[in-house]
Amino acid sequence: MNTNPIGIFDSGLGGLTVARAIQKILPHESVIYFGDTARLPYGNKSPKIIKKYSLKIADFLISKGAKIIVIACNTASALALNEVQKHVRVPIVGVIDPGVEAAIHATQNKRIGVIGTVATIRSKEYENKIKATDPTMTVISQPCPLFVPLVEEGWLEGAISKAIANIYLEPFKTENVDTLVLGCTHYPLLKPLLKSQINHKIALIDSAEPVAKKIFELINTLELQSNSHSNGTLSCFITDVFSQFETIAERFLEGPIADVTTVDFF
Ligand code: DGL
Repeated sequence: MNTNPIGIFDSGLGGLTVARAIQKILPHESVIYFGDTARLPYGNKSPKIIKKYSLKIADFLISKGAKIIVIACNTASALALNEVQKHVRVPIVGVIDPGVEAAIHATQNKRIGVIGTVATIRSKEYENKIKATDPTMTVISQPCPLFVPLVEEGWLEGAISKAIANIYLEPFKTENVDTLVLGCTHYPLLKPLLKSQINHKIALIDSAEPVAKKIFELINTLELQSNSHSNGTLSCFITDVFSQFETIAERFLEGPIADVTTVDFF
């Protein structure tokens, strides 16, 4: 029995989709969520600074008693997973490996597309991990930096969003990929738009559920489960409360957000 919380962190609020998936599969576990809203986006920052921020956040979650840490941010998972793993003693799970496994499982023609932030795509983490698992896979990667602000603004459809998606998705159409990894916390909210601009049959890989399953397995294997009979709680820590905070958080969480604390992290 371990009633300590599961720690989850992201550069902002997009990782709340992962928190939601974990709470669904592990309703009796409490979650502490850290969103570095003051410093979002990480996706166009240097590897050095992404590692530095990630280590600091991991320390914070440990200080709050996290029994396991989930790096819900694709950019931080791509650039800082190894460092965070070396830095703390609790198990660390990133979003890339579960996404890679799900993509390899989904593809039938072995042609996988990956979209993500500039830093994630530059790191080649998805590409290298897919090819390390199966060298016969073809991977086509494309950074989509404008998707994060579109989602933050709530522009999930409409002519401008369609036009942007169309430009970003062009390489996947010509390369005939049958599976597209949504390698960024924000992209799952664009699923209907992406499907409409590419091909309705394409498999869109959202790592939130595979990550939640991985946490479920890990918690049981390592005997870290809370065994509590009451529902777990969700406590959020963020570094800045900006004007649209609540609307954006609730868009990702698909429900009301309560218990939010601002942390002075500078
Ligand atoms: N959370 C980031 C990711 O999943 C997207 C937002 C950002 O650039 O910080 O890569």
